Amino acid sequence: MLKTVVCVSGGGSNLQAILDAVESGGITNAQVSAVICNNPGAKALERAARHNVPAIVMSPKNYPDRAEFHRAFTEKMCQLDPDLIVLAGFLVKIPEEMVKRFPNRIINVHPSLIPSFCGVGYYGLKVHEKALERGVRVTGATVHFVNEGMDEGPIIAQKPVEVLEDDTPQSLQRRVMEQAEWILLPQAIDDIANGRIRVEEGRVRRSPV
Ligand code: GRF
Repeated sequence: MLKTVVCVSGGGSNLQAILDAVESGGITNAQVSAVICNNPGAKALERAARHNVPAIVMSPKNYPDRAEFHRAFTEKMCQLDPDLIVLAGFLVKIPEEMVKRFPNRIINVHPSLIPSFCGVGYYGLKVHEKALERGVRVTGATVHFVNEGMDEGPIIAQKPVEVLEDDTPQSLQRRVMEQAEWILLPQAIDDIANGRIRVEEGRVRRSPV
């Protein structure tokens, strides 16, 4: 059973997709053992509570400095001892010490087709604003392993989403979530939980189903 901790910051729609998939059988051999959230008012916390998943609120704002937060965050994660850490709309950079402690065991969903519209400053609605500004005809979402960089780890899966003429950043974000993120993230967790993917020489390799 893949013990999974999900990190969230906001609405929690990706967390909801994961919890629903575990309950429906879309994800097998995995359980969400805890949620960590940096925002005490996040709707994601209500979603965790409705599914009786223990939630821990930890924000850099409650620590004297970033190094102290990194230490406490990493210590808490080690106590939880997950097989997999899932960043689902999590807006806090993962400390290097945590990446080292959980190599190829942290995954993230990003709302674009990496390497487009990613890296420092590209998160949430900003990603879709930049995609519309550039005039791309196709965008989408990416699930990838987390390494020391920002959105630079080995790519697990991507799904394209068409950009429509009358799209606003909000309408595009919603469609990317509905048509890509909420599908890719549960699928990636199920693949990992059932041994269908591994990382070799920095690339994700898939075993035959
Ligand atoms: C999503 O677009 C996700 O890709 C981004 O944050 C947004 C909110 O996600 N990282 P959620 O509703 O909190 O899962």
